[in-house]
Amino acid sequence: MAGATSAPGAGTAGGTAGPAAGRSIVAFCCRECAYTAADSSANARTPLPPTVRLILVPCTGRVGPLHLLSALAEGADGVMVAGCLLGQCHYREGNFNAVDRVAFVQRLLKSVGVEPERCRMFTMSAGEPPKFVAAVREMDRVIGGLPPLPRYTVGRSRTTAPAGGEPAMAHSGAPGDAGASAGTAAPAVARGAA
Ligand code: FES
Repeated sequence: MAGATSAPGAGTAGGTAGPAAGRSIVAFCCRECAYTAADSSANARTPLPPTVRLILVPCTGRVGPLHLLSALAEGADGVMVAGCLLGQCHYREGNFNAVDRVAFVQRLLKSVGVEPERCRMFTMSAGEPPKFVAAVREMDRVIGGLPPLPRYTVGRSRTTAPAGGEPAMAHSGAPGDAGASAGTAAPAVARGAA
């Protein structure tokens, strides 16, 4: 799993705070399409919400449910997977697998009382930077309309966001570290909504 970066154009001169200001969105982006589209939008100096952090992956088929759940458990309020158009995955079926996994995570979140729209899948070609920008802004809009995601940790009481403030995080790890701890965080989400 490649490293995490701030969204091109986010938090810089071009970045503008959106509805989800103060929140965190982790975007797993396929190198072949979404990340390239993000790069192009940055070159065009298109502003993106500063809430988003990009994680470069070789293909969305590389993103598993634990990556998504770990990101949520470790501080993200939303996660998105951005891949090639269906039928155009450079690894044939990677994005179809990603669609299934996102749907699985949505069902899992719903079953434990967490809003399923916190996890979304988007597809685009490398030549569609506006579609990438629209996807990020849509995610920012959705997350901005939801309450902060409560956090739970083993042996600790529930932590929630102070009124009008940023969510109090149970973990100090950056959302972009999700992939590195993918094997340990999923239970925290299940506990969080129990
Ligand atoms: Fe882009 Fe598989 S290579 S989703």
